[in-house]
Amino acid sequence: MLILGIESSCDETAASVVKDCREILSSVISTQIEEHKKYGGVVPEIASRRHCENILGVVRKALDDANVTLDDLDGIAVTYAPGLIGALLVGVSFAKSLAMACNKPLIPVHHIAGHIATNYLTHKNLEPPYLCIVASGGHSHIIEVLSYTKFHVIGRTRDDAAGECFDKCARAMGFPYPGGVHIDNATKNGNASAFKLPHPTVAGNEFDFSFSGLKTSVINMIHNASQKNITLDTNDLSASIQKSISDILTEKTINAAKTFGYKKIALAGGVSANTGVRAALSEACEREGFEFYMPEKFLCGDNGAMIACQGSYNFLAGITADESLNAVASLPIDMI
Ligand code: KG4
Ligand code: ZN
Repeated sequence: MLILGIESSCDETAASVVKDCREILSSVISTQIEEHKKYGGVVPEIASRRHCENILGVVRKALDDANVTLDDLDGIAVTYAPGLIGALLVGVSFAKSLAMACNKPLIPVHHIAGHIATNYLTHKNLEPPYLCIVASGGHSHIIEVLSYTKFHVIGRTRDDAAGECFDKCARAMGFPYPGGVHIDNATKNGNASAFKLPHPTVAGNEFDFSFSGLKTSVINMIHNASQKNITLDTNDLSASIQKSISDILTEKTINAAKTFGYKKIALAGGVSANTGVRAALSEACEREGFEFYMPEKFLCGDNGAMIACQGSYNFLAGITADESLNAVASLPIDMI
């Protein structure tokens, strides 16, 4: 089975061909980061325009690299939710037209389900059910992966996502967008106990997250220091932020796994590339006796292979779309 996956939900135009659910034959990613950097974040209209310019070339290269033709495909999978609406519409319209022109099934894929699927590409033996912590620029979710296509959210962020918290703290420290990776790099020479940062409690659901208090505290600390002409040690502050975020994600995930009786824990989403988060979760899982799965680093950020992989499982479960498929900016993963 050969599935083409197309991703355009944010600032990466990506396409990939995946064979038999888990074998990546090609993966092409055209990133717009350099352009959005100038504005300190993603500018939605620019993102849509770049997707529009790049998508055909990216898909053509994905087919060429995989050495397959449109005729060889069993289906065309596309991210239809959630994300920037104009950006999603480019991928959805393109995939629909392609599916119609070559008479292939069209397969809708939820972006978060795609991130979760990166673990199938990395760990050939991983099968549901398991618990997955998904942390990205737009989402922080603890999800029960009940089957390849059924999900239940146990906890979510009440405000900022973990990646957003990394990026906003990084911006206040003067790092370019997206700052998460710069904080990660700076931690190598930093002392994680140098700064005391708040560890938020969330009333109501103990598995929900809140990162805005941590972010605000870091931003206030930087502003107060600059008013007094004091320069904070960026390495120490980075290490302290990274430790706080890693501890929060790890603690809630381990507690959720114990409460809901899961033995397997997976990590996914852009923040799964973070050295501190990977280490904290993997050490906690080892200590507490959980099996731990995380994606290879090249699969952590947005890519087409995750959409092709999840698209393959959707296709096997009979999840296809007709010509009325539309893009949806916001759609909980347990509503699909
Ligand atoms: O999954 P993703 O590529 O896009 C969304 O679906 O949001 O995630 C992007 C997020 C950004 O916030 C970025 O700063 C963060 O993932 N990120 C990292 C690292 N690499 C990417 N955050 C911390 N450390 C990293 N190494
Ligand atoms: Zn993503």
